[in-house]
Amino acid sequence: MTPNASRTAGVVEQPASPRVADQLAWASAVLADADVPSPRTDAQWLLAHVAGVDRGRLLVLDDLDADAMVEFARLVAVRRARYPLQHLVGTAAFRTVELQVGNGVFIPRPETELLAEWALSAVPSADCVIADFCSGSGALAISLATELPRARLIAVEESLSALMWLKRNIEAQPDAVASRITVVHADVTRSADIAKWIAPASCDMIVANPPYVPEDTEVDPEVDIDPAEAVFAGDDGMSVITPMIPVLAQVCRPGGLVGVEHDDATGDLVAGQLVEDGLFAGVLGHRDLAGRPRFVTATRVEG
Ligand SMILES: C[S@@+](CC[C@H](N)C(=O)[O-])C[C@H]1O[C@@H](n2cnc3c(N)ncnc32)[C@H](O)[C@@H]1O
Repeated sequence: MTPNASRTAGVVEQPASPRVADQLAWASAVLADADVPSPRTDAQWLLAHVAGVDRGRLLVLDDLDADAMVEFARLVAVRRARYPLQHLVGTAAFRTVELQVGNGVFIPRPETELLAEWALSAVPSADCVIADFCSGSGALAISLATELPRARLIAVEESLSALMWLKRNIEAQPDAVASRITVVHADVTRSADIAKWIAPASCDMIVANPPYVPEDTEVDPEVDIDPAEAVFAGDDGMSVITPMIPVLAQVCRPGGLVGVEHDDATGDLVAGQLVEDGLFAGVLGHRDLAGRPRFVTATRVEG
């Protein structure tokens, strides 16, 4: 359920004109006024959603009908209150896949696409086994299974509500993709729990986007809608990553690779803990396009 909202969004009244251009201009202004980061794009997504067309087809759409205008005004008002766009349209895009999202699951973020990109470029063989620790909606597992047609994926998730979305998203994939993804309900910080499902040294690669935001961090209003256990990880943002590192070493085969996304402020800490573990070499920090430390990769050594 999304919050209710009145027909008028507040700042400026919705224009009576049903023309798509007028509606978009109005919605963009309303969302910009609410400091929504990408007001025009969000307005387009919402309008495409109510009109039942792809965003790319908005250009060929002239007018909205009366019902669509009412629904558009409602969605713009809710988005203006900083409710996440992805919850309003029900989906989130991640690389080449579209994932269903809603209450109880983390919305995949564009920055995690960099970790997927690294995994695709570094994957040791076409027939590899890749574990996705802290899988959430399945963004990494499903996109890697889609782009690596012979890989087998193991999607590990602890939260029951996230698991429901994960399974729903896998079921929505073509059988050739879905049949190569195994879902595991387990805690990635507990080696005995994981050992019941994943044999030691059986994975060629592990990718992980765990919760990593330090508890006292001020976050955008949209992030408050994500489940807290998907976002926050103790005072230093390391309460999942630190105990997960020995589990990464446990399931990764010697010569295999791991990639762990982290908070801007914890890149050195994550790299240091991988080195200290003693079972990883080639520990390397990776930055995003804005130059922020984003994820760390390493190779599992013998031992
Ligand atoms: C930041 S979200 C990432 C979700 C997904 N991988 C993505 O990139 O969109 C972290 C996920 O880890 C799950 N999680 C948190 N602690 C966990 C644990 N100890 N074991 C397994 N999953 C955990 C949360 O429920 C959440 O779905």
